[in-house]
Amino acid sequence: MNLSFTKLAALQGEYRPPSDKSLTHRAYMFGAFASTPSIVKNPLRGEDCENTRNCMIQLGMRHEQLSPTEFRLIPAKEWSQPASPLDCGNSGTTIRLLAGLVASRPIEVTMIGDESLSKRPMRRIADPLRLMGAEFEGDTPPLRIRGGNLKGIDYVSPVASGQIKSCTLLAGLLAEGTTSVTEPSLSRDHTERMLSGVGVNVVRDGLKVSVAGGQTASGFEFNVPGDISSAAFFLVAAGMLSGSQITAKDLGINPTRSGLLDVFVQVGIPFELTNTRNEVNEPVADVVVGTALILRPFVIEGELVPRLIDEIPVLAVLATQCEGTSYIRDAKEMRIKESDRIEVMATNLRRMGANIETFEDGMAITGPTPLTGIQVDSKLDHRIAMSFAIAGCIADGVTEISGAESIRTSFPNFEQELARLAIQ
Ligand code: S3P
Repeated sequence: MNLSFTKLAALQGEYRPPSDKSLTHRAYMFGAFASTPSIVKNPLRGEDCENTRNCMIQLGMRHEQLSPTEFRLIPAKEWSQPASPLDCGNSGTTIRLLAGLVASRPIEVTMIGDESLSKRPMRRIADPLRLMGAEFEGDTPPLRIRGGNLKGIDYVSPVASGQIKSCTLLAGLLAEGTTSVTEPSLSRDHTERMLSGVGVNVVRDGLKVSVAGGQTASGFEFNVPGDISSAAFFLVAAGMLSGSQITAKDLGINPTRSGLLDVFVQVGIPFELTNTRNEVNEPVADVVVGTALILRPFVIEGELVPRLIDEIPVLAVLATQCEGTSYIRDAKEMRIKESDRIEVMATNLRRMGANIETFEDGMAITGPTPLTGIQVDSKLDHRIAMSFAIAGCIADGVTEISGAESIRTSFPNFEQELARLAIQ
């Protein structure tokens, strides 16, 4: 599917960003291993999370749709051996977290994915799972896992990755003894928060987090907040397009995810948090964003990186409009997301007129440079497609994005919402 975008004057109004993808994945998975039924309200209905729900159903979970936005999840007493491979589609979170859950049960499972997922590295989860005693085949999908009888480990993860940490901790729930993960800096902590929220004792000691095996998770009721990674696209656009003001309602602002707002402070994009509250241990607020008077350049490095890893593509678009050189470093993880996001962003932004130097672990982007519309192949990567849609909103001419169906993995009504908020 091709989508075209042209220059906008401003963005104005209120919107409810799509529900959080990371939290929806976890809600479905937790609903499948809790000891009693759970209710999930406002799950993200994007393809990635629908794949997770389908995988959990194949493993024995039952679900009832109570309303268009509400599901009851009924866990199986024992997970069943699936009759066919679990299809994780485009989703790294589905395959990596689910690998931990199946590895801890006495079943044999094959996991597959689309062309993009089939190229993504899985050694990062195979390593801890093998150390725990699982049989694991495949450096990239398809993966074959034979699980059960795991032993707790004290794992030092080479990267700050919420997926590696979550996979290992979820496997640890059914392992003998205690499982700990230590990471080089703090990655998103949704799994730990949700585990505590369902009654599992999680012990944190600095960058080390531990769970003892054999604990029971209770059923829960969870209203999934909006996803800051999806909200980022319109918030960044509002920051650049003068005269904009938009409010993202019910936005998850977990500190391990809210690095975008730290960048807004550096750049000078004004924002305000109102109506702050909590939803099963996750902080939520309405976030009002306006336009910067002058866009100052920014630096993303070190501990900030995992707090905004998925927002870097659209922040690269922002950097092209900042007055000076912005630096993105320590972000080589970007190269192994749904696409090589450093390469795809740099190549196409340069074609639009941007001034970019690339490094193995990031980019230096010197602005401001006017952008001109081009044709972009989004490489089956939703965040690339949406980042170039935002580039198209500030560029002269037409920006045409091919492979834009990937947007449905995380933001099903992206074009409609953009059109609704747009001032031409
Ligand atoms: C996710 C963690 C991040 C992120 C991904 C979702 C999660 O990946 O990029 O989109 O839900 O745990 P890493 O933890 O591998 O960096």
